[in-house]
Amino acid sequence: MIKFPFLKVLAVALVIMGCSATIAGGAAQAEAAEPCDLALGAKIFSKCAACHTFDTSGIHGAGPNLNSIIGKPSGSSSGFPYSEAMQAFQRLWTESELDSFLQQPMAAIPGTTMAFGGLAKPHQRAAVICYLAQGAD
Ligand code: HEC
Repeated sequence: MIKFPFLKVLAVALVIMGCSATIAGGAAQAEAAEPCDLALGAKIFSKCAACHTFDTSGIHGAGPNLNSIIGKPSGSSSGFPYSEAMQAFQRLWTESELDSFLQQPMAAIPGTTMAFGGLAKPHQRAAVICYLAQGAD
């Protein structure tokens, strides 16, 4: 019976340690850029690749080619038939703009023809964005 209260204390201690580690980690990340998980980014991009090419060919799939997408104006790849919603969006694809778009594309740009539910997990979005930031060449 003594075992249980001890385990409870241990569990609480571990939770507290976990939280302070997260807080410390968050502060460190604010200073240094998050490390880029390219392997995860490539894995996540395989979902995008159903519709998007990511190479220097400039050839589009069901979605526009995504080479050099970071910093590019939205809806500006030549030869791709963007939706009216995307044409009206008129933003630069900064990393933070991509992050909010990819979380829930159809909510971020109502009327977009990108039929993709989104990436709920921040680390998955960060990984695919840094993967795209490497460029295809
Ligand atoms: C089911 C097909 C499909 C999937 C899957 C998909 N997209 Fe798209 N994507 C599109 C289409 C279609 C558009 C054009 C949308 C429009 O014109 O409204 C688009 C547009 C975009 C744009 C804007 C491009 C520009 O030139 O302005 C980005 C960025 C983008 N997608 C990234 C991604 C990423 C990253 C993923 C994977 C996490 C992904 N997409 C998954 C179909 C898809």
